[in-house]
Amino acid sequence: MSVPPASRRLQWTDVPLRMRTHLEGELGAPAVNVVTPAGGFGHQLAAAVRLADGRRVFIKAAPDDDSLTHANTHEAAVLTALPPDAPAPELLGVHRTAGWTAVVIAHLDGPHPDLSPAAHDAGQTWALLDKLTSAPAPAAYVEAVSGTSSTSASLHGWAELATTPPGDLAPAARDQLPRLVDLESRWPALADGDRIVHGDLRADNMVHDRARGVTFVDWAHATTGPACIDAASLAPQLVLAGHPVTDVAALLRDHAATATSPATTTAYLAALTGHWHRNARRPAPAGAPGLRTYQHRAAAAGLALLMTRL
Ligand SMILES: Nc1ncnc2c1ncn2[C@@H]1O[C@H](COP(=O)(O)OP(=O)(O)OP(=O)(O)O)[C@@H](O)[C@H]1O
Ligand SMILES: [Mg+2]
Repeated sequence: MSVPPASRRLQWTDVPLRMRTHLEGELGAPAVNVVTPAGGFGHQLAAAVRLADGRRVFIKAAPDDDSLTHANTHEAAVLTALPPDAPAPELLGVHRTAGWTAVVIAHLDGPHPDLSPAAHDAGQTWALLDKLTSAPAPAAYVEAVSGTSSTSASLHGWAELATTPPGDLAPAARDQLPRLVDLESRWPALADGDRIVHGDLRADNMVHDRARGVTFVDWAHATTGPACIDAASLAPQLVLAGHPVTDVAALLRDHAATATSPATTTAYLAALTGHWHRNARRPAPAGAPGLRTYQHRAAAAGLALLMTRL
């Protein structure tokens, strides 16, 4: 599956020299090569850094007054609190120098997973989600995410679209607007739960590490919630990757994380697709050129899935 185009990110040389020198001192070797992987929409430094002794680390960094620093330190807290067998890289350190904060994470070696029907990565991802959500989140994780509100819980869009339906709204959505508004209005009351939620699961927030297999990265939006959130978020991604809608709808019906809570799953899908349909029509934010196009495609895939459940 193709991943959304990379945003215009801060580069290694944008990081103050004092911070770079500090990091090289802490890591015990100078950086000799820095690669910014494709994927994602954030503007902070997010780069694979090769050190002179051959080791590689992954570094995310931004100025302290940038909101992404809060997201990065939240991610760092989550990485230390996840269960040891969670599909996530280890946190190696958090460093604050020269008005910047850098989070250093173990480097994963490999491409984004191939979620297309031709590959095995979608099945592996589905199995990882099953395991991740099969038991309540451990206390350390609950503590780590307790100060952060869930972005998943606040997703919505249909009510706004229903007030003046855009001319290009898909006929399927136009015909069902009152139902979609009703469904998304139910979501906030269903959004509480005790399971680990990654909260932003797409192919570009996963790496197929050569040794570990599919591993989830970018835990900046992690919270607790119902088990269905990540599986229901992944489902439209599978449609975008080429899986027939009917196959993905059947997976959602039968998967452990979604089968036992069909009403919550449907309400979440309504809120998510409403968010995509609404946001795709907003002006593009600076520095994220591919975002709106991606949201239009995701909106259509999510709506096709949702329609199978109405
Ligand atoms: N530990 C890692 N090892 C190797 N590559 C990684 C690692 N973590 C992330 N990546 C790669 O770097 C990219 C950007 O990382 P990440 O998604 O964490 O940054 P981000 O700026 O928070 O992203 P977004 O724009 O989605 O918010 C990912 O799409 C992935 O390809
Ligand atoms: Mg990302």
